[in-house]
Amino acid sequence: MNIYAHRGNSGFFPENTICAFKKSLDLGVYGIELDVHKTKDGILVVHHDETVDRMFDGKGYIKKLTLEQIKELTIKDDEYKDNPECKIPTLDEVLELIEPTNLNLNIELKNNKIAYKDIEKDVVALVKKYKMEKRVVISTFNVKSLKKLSKLNSKIKTAYLVSALTFKRGGLKKALKTCKDCKCTYIHPSYDLVNKEFVDEAHKKDILVQVYTVNSITIMRKLIKFKVDGIFTNYPKIINTIVND
Ligand code: G3P
Ligand code: CA
Repeated sequence: MNIYAHRGNSGFFPENTICAFKKSLDLGVYGIELDVHKTKDGILVVHHDETVDRMFDGKGYIKKLTLEQIKELTIKDDEYKDNPECKIPTLDEVLELIEPTNLNLNIELKNNKIAYKDIEKDVVALVKKYKMEKRVVISTFNVKSLKKLSKLNSKIKTAYLVSALTFKRGGLKKALKTCKDCKCTYIHPSYDLVNKEFVDEAHKKDILVQVYTVNSITIMRKLIKFKVDGIFTNYPKIINTIVND
């Protein structure tokens, strides 16, 4: 069972920051999950939302801000505002941190609302720079992007992210067909879509199931019974202990 620290150790530290990633390094988890956007000047940065407003003392879309402008932002959370590790990191900075460890990485392309030009090519190039092809899974809700990734033929595994909304448009059968068409190794569904049938059907088609975002112990135990292959959680320490005990 692969346990991913979702946005880093984000239940306790500011999500998608070097601080939250550093606090994930010694938890004994399989990997870290993070989200990627592109700045106005084409740099890959790690942040969940399309805009900086929710977490930082600025306003606007990442795609309209330069890296320099983004690095000037201060986190809103008073406890961390003087912490230099609580800025928006570049993907390069995060890979530099993770590469020397034994951790795996799920890089989610946040291109379901904004089509960042060449994000697939740029992420693949950066993963190759750190020689982490075998330790990375690239995931996205964007089917066109998965097709592009499969054409890049980079040897990096991919995952199709499935929400309740996607699921409404064709259910499990269509979702698994998309995985096959796009050569995805994994399907990453929201936890509320998953039952035993879901996992069994995916496994029959040789598709592995990693479930987001599971913060409840009860749901976790249910998913273990269904034999899911991985989960994403904001509380990796607690859940990792339950699963591996
Ligand atoms: O990658 C799984 C999960 O992170 C997708 O949802 O909104 O937390 O990025 P979100
Ligand atoms: Ca994510």
